[in-house]
Amino acid sequence: MAHVIAIDGPAASGKSSTARAVAEALGFAHLDSGALYRGVTLVALEHGATPGAPLDANAILLEAERRGLSLLYDGTGFSVYLGGEPADEAIRSAPVTGMVSAVSAVPEIREWVNERLRALPGAGQPVVVDGRDIGTVVFPDATLKVFLTASPRTRAARRLTQRGQAVGDAELAQETSLLAARDAADSGRPVAPLRMAEDAVPLDGTALTFAEQVAEIVDLARARMTRPG
Ligand code: DC
Repeated sequence: MAHVIAIDGPAASGKSSTARAVAEALGFAHLDSGALYRGVTLVALEHGATPGAPLDANAILLEAERRGLSLLYDGTGFSVYLGGEPADEAIRSAPVTGMVSAVSAVPEIREWVNERLRALPGAGQPVVVDGRDIGTVVFPDATLKVFLTASPRTRAARRLTQRGQAVGDAELAQETSLLAARDAADSGRPVAPLRMAEDAVPLDGTALTFAEQVAEIVDLARARMTRPG
């Protein structure tokens, strides 16, 4: 299997943008596992799933396959495609974000996603993968595992800035509580909860610049890849 750099952590910890930059520096492909959960959630919503109601995992996955939900390599990373079109924007919508924790808590859906993620380095493509259970479940033998965190307020401010929203006290308080609810759902679920792998390197990005955070992971990865044995 090709090298895998696993970056796990809570929502808005900067995993995806960091993983993308690390991948670019190493010449690896970036693989955003949350994007595939979002793709399945988009299919579920379009197939009539409603928040709070029980989910029919088999029907959702059949529909996902029928519509060709897949990860396609675009030269730097993998993008989610649905029906032959990139679905990058649709998978970031508020309804998808509101329902993705429930969809990603279903074991059959996790198995389906994991199989697709494992196929990529299995076919020889070195990857930087970000998610919640990459180092613990999906790639337990990853070359390097990083657990990336940042303070809830820092994460909330980043999320608001990303969306071009104001970063006032009221907005920060609201976004911090939304993130806390998602963290609680992701960490408290019985299947593949968000937790740090025992052999992961913890990295708190609160006081680091983006460039410092990326450089730290790239250095760790290079050291692991040149280590004999
Ligand atoms: O990183 P993100 O916000 O795009 O992730 C969307 C959701 O998918 C998040 O609520 C948790 C879930 N997820 C997961 O359960 N396991 C992963 N490996 C990646 C994401």
